[in-house]
Amino acid sequence: MKKKILILGSIFFLLFGSKNTLAQNNLIPVKVDSVLHLMTLEEKVGQLNQYTGDWDEATGPITKDGDKQNQIKQGEVGSMLNVKGVKHSRELQEMALQSRLRIPLLFGEDVIHGYKTTFPIPLAEASSWDMDAIQLSARVAATEAAGSGIHWVFAPMVDISRDPRWGRVMEGAGEDTYLGSQIAIARVKGFQGDGLGYTNSVMACVKHYAAYGAAIGGRDYNSVDMSERMLREIYLPPFKAAEKAGAATFMNSFNDLNGIPATANVHLLRDILKGEWGFKGFVVSDWGSVGEMIQHGFVKDNKEAALVAIKAGCDMDMESRSYKNNLALLVREGKVPIELVNDAVKRILLKKFELGLFDNPFKYLNTDRESREMNNPEHVKAARMVAEKSVVLLKNDKQLLPLSKNIKSIALIGPIVKTVKQNLGFWSIEWDNDSSYIVSQWKGIQNKVSSNTHLIYAKGCEINDSSHAGFAEAVQAALQADVVVMSVGEARDMTGEAKSRSNIHLPGVQEELIQAIYATGKPVVVMINAGRPLIFNWTADHIPAILYTWWLGSEAGNAIADVLFGDYNPSAKLPMSFPRTEGQIPIYYNHFNTGRPANNDNDRFYRSAYIDLSIYPKFEFGYGLSYTTFEYSNLELSKQKVRQNDTITVSLKITNTGKIAGEEIVQLYLRDKVASVVRPVKELKGFQKIYLMPGETKTVTFIIEKEKLSFYNQQMQWVAEPGEFDVMIGTSSEKIKLKSSFELLP
Ligand code: BGC
Repeated sequence: MKKKILILGSIFFLLFGSKNTLAQNNLIPVKVDSVLHLMTLEEKVGQLNQYTGDWDEATGPITKDGDKQNQIKQGEVGSMLNVKGVKHSRELQEMALQSRLRIPLLFGEDVIHGYKTTFPIPLAEASSWDMDAIQLSARVAATEAAGSGIHWVFAPMVDISRDPRWGRVMEGAGEDTYLGSQIAIARVKGFQGDGLGYTNSVMACVKHYAAYGAAIGGRDYNSVDMSERMLREIYLPPFKAAEKAGAATFMNSFNDLNGIPATANVHLLRDILKGEWGFKGFVVSDWGSVGEMIQHGFVKDNKEAALVAIKAGCDMDMESRSYKNNLALLVREGKVPIELVNDAVKRILLKKFELGLFDNPFKYLNTDRESREMNNPEHVKAARMVAEKSVVLLKNDKQLLPLSKNIKSIALIGPIVKTVKQNLGFWSIEWDNDSSYIVSQWKGIQNKVSSNTHLIYAKGCEINDSSHAGFAEAVQAALQADVVVMSVGEARDMTGEAKSRSNIHLPGVQEELIQAIYATGKPVVVMINAGRPLIFNWTADHIPAILYTWWLGSEAGNAIADVLFGDYNPSAKLPMSFPRTEGQIPIYYNHFNTGRPANNDNDRFYRSAYIDLSIYPKFEFGYGLSYTTFEYSNLELSKQKVRQNDTITVSLKITNTGKIAGEEIVQLYLRDKVASVVRPVKELKGFQKIYLMPGETKTVTFIIEKEKLSFYNQQMQWVAEPGEFDVMIGTSSEKIKLKSSFELLP
């Protein structure tokens, strides 16, 4: 008894002692152990239990049994998600402090592309290929979220995907492993800032582990069947990069991988993540994914679900209550060793200590800071800047763009011109029906043009409707104007979770509307708003100027106006291939050559091709134009032969040959020509975004080291094999400007 009082006394000091200094950080493992020592089995299980707050737009079924608040007071809940705002979080935290050990709650939230200030959807940001901009976006989101009481964001989503039918491509960085890994690092750094413990830092949660983006048929939650090589070379590297960058937590994916649900996948969780990579943070299930193993047909009930999930290394159960209702019993029956529960609890307590919540459970709960961060003009500027960088110029015949600000009249036509909330895209936070901070495209353009410019508006049609009733008015509007700007696309909720589409053409009659407007003979600019690569072949073939704007967030209108009128020169490049029809999917640039490659679209005789369709995408990975032009020259390699542990420097010159300043994304691709395992026709291994004044030339250099030449051989060893490598410098994955090769020596 005496011993217990002593421990309780010392724990009280440790919990509420003083500030979270570095020296004390070294003591955190000791503190974690001493808290663990005091906990009952039920309290331990409580730390592994996460509930949602009262939110009616939950992404899964909310289990309503029991009294959540009472459970919080009993120490039976470790974390809450979807609790918005300091006031509500404070109420719940006060309840947690009524529990016996006063262990604070962790508050998590899906902060996917901004919090109140909404940034472009992640796939749009990925188009910027601008790591500073992406990091800044995550930093601003972290600052606002933390200001609102959130400790933990369920981002970044780092799932590679080659399937634009999958609605969740909007949350990720596209199809490429290298680009995806760089972006994963930038996002983790942005969220976690100077480190956990700073009140403007939040824990990142890398998701969805793993291979979720390869769901069969692009159908959400579907199974994944994949070789170990594909998993490790294509799908896992962004997770590994995020882990290395210090990501605090991981989230399981919903899918089964080769027949084993990710939530109970020992190979993914114990062998790779916590074993090979040495991950010290904790893993949360996806929403209900522990319990969903019953539907998978992997376990017979929630008790068995809890058993297999904890054994595999899933530390926290989000909303399935399988742990809450079964784990203690499983331990008492001897089916789950207490060490497994202890390990999971320790991982979670560790993060609570690192965040400084034991020092001050209300550390993030300051209403003044909340209102300051939620109304910070610097955040708005950042959102506009990142949005500009995310717009891809797909076509600009005869330099129709940029438009002059003094045009006499512009017809703005299309169902998205005047929409407000649509601009946020999916996975954005709703602000109590207040949309006054969101800049519509109409508003942005109105702000930009001179007072002499007359703007004419016609909706033309709905986003996804069959009615042509508005066409005549739209044609009239076009006829009255000097130039037409159309804004079409998907509705914001046509991508995102559970938003897979089998038909990814421009929805409804929008392409017919474009045809009707084009027939007026007026110059037409089309802007396409979407959360995935869409198919719009007629538009691509006929319309002279096309901008792919994705969903750009709360500053969409201003950023679009900046690009349309030349205050920003577009620099973005596609992070995913755009197919010509759904029949080409999956289509990606880093495919194998096959034994019968087709060399072009006339080369079809017993070739790896389609008899009725091109083998090429409509717009390829890495593609995007600028208002200026660039010339590539003088490719030089520092050596022609390189030893295994040596490096090669690749250098080239790039010149802005146009009349205005602009940025080019210079892309380095490599090909291992002959290997013991077939290698892709090219793989992105470096890129640089270069800003050039008109007429200016800069030298760009890349270093190639062994890592960039390595792959998994037949024995699944990570090796670089001797032989010849092609070096390709491109302005996209297809438009290779300079080429050379070198030999890797044994
Ligand atoms: C999604 C996750 C998300 C979670 C919590 C799930 O349905 O798959 O990405 O973080 O819900 O909202």
